Amino acid sequence: MNTIRKILARPEFQLGLPILIPALRYRLGNLLRNRRFKSRSPHGEFQALGRVLTVERQPGGVWLHAQQGHVEIHFVTPDVVRMRASREGTADLPFSYAVTFAEAAPVAVTYEDSPQTLVVRSERVACEVDKAACHLTLRAADGRLIAQDTAGFRLRGEQVMWSSRLPDGEACYGLGERGSGLNLRGRRYAFWNSDLVKYRLGSDPLYLSIPFLMGLQPDLAYGVLWDNPSRGWVDLGEADPGEKTFFAESGEACLYLMAGHDPQAVLAAYTSLTGHMPLPPVWALGFHQSRWGYDTEATFRTLAHQFRQRRLPCDALYFDIDYMDGYRVFTWNRERFPQMPALLNDLCTQGFKPVAIIDPGIKTDSKFDIYLDGLQRDVFLKYPDGTRVAAPVWPGRCHFPDFSRPHTRAWWAEHVGKLVQAGFAGLWNDMNEPALINPGGEKSLPDYVVHDWDEHPRSHVSGGHNTYGMLMARSTYEGMLQHRPDRRPFVMTRAAYAGAQRYTSSWTGDNSATWEHLRLSISMALNMGLSGLPFTGPDTGGFHGEPSAELFARWMELSSVLPYFRVHTIAGSADQEPWSFGEQVEAISRSALERRYRLLPALYTAFAQAVRNGAPVIRPLFWMEPRNKALYGVDDAFMVGDTLLAAPVLEEGATQREVLLPAGTWYAFESGEMLRGGGRVTVQAPLDALPLFARAGSVIPLWPVMQYVGEQPLEELHLRVFAGTGESVLYEDAGEGFAYRDGDARWSAFTTGFLPGGEFVIDWHTSGAYQPPYERVRVEVVGISGEPERVELDGGMAPVWYFNEGVVEFVAGPFERARIIGRGALTPFTDETRLHPPHFK
Ligand code: GLC
Repeated sequence: MNTIRKILARPEFQLGLPILIPALRYRLGNLLRNRRFKSRSPHGEFQALGRVLTVERQPGGVWLHAQQGHVEIHFVTPDVVRMRASREGTADLPFSYAVTFAEAAPVAVTYEDSPQTLVVRSERVACEVDKAACHLTLRAADGRLIAQDTAGFRLRGEQVMWSSRLPDGEACYGLGERGSGLNLRGRRYAFWNSDLVKYRLGSDPLYLSIPFLMGLQPDLAYGVLWDNPSRGWVDLGEADPGEKTFFAESGEACLYLMAGHDPQAVLAAYTSLTGHMPLPPVWALGFHQSRWGYDTEATFRTLAHQFRQRRLPCDALYFDIDYMDGYRVFTWNRERFPQMPALLNDLCTQGFKPVAIIDPGIKTDSKFDIYLDGLQRDVFLKYPDGTRVAAPVWPGRCHFPDFSRPHTRAWWAEHVGKLVQAGFAGLWNDMNEPALINPGGEKSLPDYVVHDWDEHPRSHVSGGHNTYGMLMARSTYEGMLQHRPDRRPFVMTRAAYAGAQRYTSSWTGDNSATWEHLRLSISMALNMGLSGLPFTGPDTGGFHGEPSAELFARWMELSSVLPYFRVHTIAGSADQEPWSFGEQVEAISRSALERRYRLLPALYTAFAQAVRNGAPVIRPLFWMEPRNKALYGVDDAFMVGDTLLAAPVLEEGATQREVLLPAGTWYAFESGEMLRGGGRVTVQAPLDALPLFARAGSVIPLWPVMQYVGEQPLEELHLRVFAGTGESVLYEDAGEGFAYRDGDARWSAFTTGFLPGGEFVIDWHTSGAYQPPYERVRVEVVGISGEPERVELDGGMAPVWYFNEGVVEFVAGPFERARIIGRGALTPFTDETRLHPPHFK
């Protein structure tokens, strides 16, 4: 009885007959269609390729013609090798939405051919072929093993597989969004974007899959992009602990292997293959408030008023499906939002950027102009017999745009204009696995639905499904750009495939208000960053269920240093605004929000690094020390950019925690307390504290607290310098628009260190044309052992400086060299009592 009551309480049942009738129709229709169109799984064993019969040299590589199939080995760059295997050995590369890299000229390779083996070598990597079995081994030029076939390539009907060694101790990361912790080794993961209701630790697959794996060993990092978007999986040692296997239901086995000395080199190679994230507008790094259920103009006005009156910084307010007219995409409800453009304009005037949800399902309603337009312009997905796909989502029976058709993308982009012109500043792409509201039935479209695939038709199962979300986000991105060519689009998506970073950010879908999900937020965001899509984060506070005040406070603290910071919750749940949990949590939320806004220049710099070379915005601790295996599994702490380490409290009731600090000296960011790294330290973390540390020698740029980005002209840049030897960077530009692409941007490089004569020096070099608006720089150097004798800037005396408890502070104009000159030797560590020894375990 209870189960029935629970099922009936689910949102889809609340929607009643408008959903249940189309769901029934859909199911009945599928029963008939499945008989006609569903293909059967092939029988029999997988077949290996057998002996290599002939070798055909090509510019940059070779074709191997074996007994049962053909393999192409091709150097895309000296470090990146593409390997393709198929029965037919088609010369043309399969059309890919993931890879955008264009080779300028063939890579120079050499060949060593003998009856048993063939070695194809670039200056960086050697690929050795064992001809008897057509097995491949890849080594770096210095002999390190990158990959070694076990069973190698195998084929069965349309299915393809590739198996290679998984060496002992190797850690595995990436794969997009996974609910299984940081190191993914030991399990099989599916590639099939799925809307799971109430996922939890271990659930798989989730909404977004990226078939990119990063393997890490102390002396090697490598990446594999399995560029096959069909339904498949990767087994990372579940079936055989010493083997990894990629599998796809159809298409070619097409993979790119990239080798590097460290994770940075691998991510740089992966993002040059699949593209970089464009710079988001700075406001998108601010705070976003959302819930399913803000459903009237008055609600938004009150919300906006509350944020500003309570001095809780906030940049974005979200319009979930309630704003639509009967869930029809690109419409709004004229009763509840009679003056939408005026409302959005008023919100903008108060510094809020409105973000609207859009869903791909188009209601089949003969009075709905967008549906009629879509019919007329023939934009919807079809079955193989040419009838349009119709399935149930929020509005009832829907058709689905085929975003893999340029014509459909242009149609969608055109309609995006309506929301842009109304005043929406960002668009949130949901339900694009695509997901259905089909109680008890199929959760997505049938395998045999046909997708245009930019004129290389493919079925739903063989690519249409897994790329659907990415291509919807792409159409939205292109639409926003078309209608506001001078602004950077802010697009968010739930589902995606490799390369989606070129168009969109993401979030981790419908999580739950539990401590388990608080912790999962970290590993999910980290693995997304290691999959090339770093702009991501969870529903802070949790989507399903209701967080306790303590959980909400801890989640605000964590999210304040994640790339994407949004509060969101399900319809009907208790209030989930920063003030909904009493005064103490409101104050904690305020300080989390203020921290976020102060750190914006540091975060924005980390975003700019991701744009430039694929380094994730937040990074696992092993990024600092890839040789230190003790850091491979750390998923309760992470780096924010190059310099900050966050170790949020993830346990109920805890007021202190242990932190495993990488080697070196660290400072507590707020108190300036010094800590020795290279082991565990115990830090105090009362409910109102986020343990945050800065690397010694780092320069952390800060902005003043603001209620929203652009609230006031930036008059002063604050540099918080943590004494020690190090290098840091700062990226600056207008924060909006595209002038940065024409050089209107600036990188600052800071070098800090103690010189033997008794001084501490900060060197500041800039490159780039951008002129920031501030003329004042406030420098605070933390960790100076004794009162200095003087402070010099670019050879002259600093106008005024202060010294207080190990902190030297001065305000000046931008400088090239600042010298803090001691009365005697000046070091950070003369007062040993301030350096906390780690508690090694
Ligand atoms: C989906 C989304 C969720 C949204 C809801 C209603 O469940 O994941 O974030 O609130 O749909 O649109």
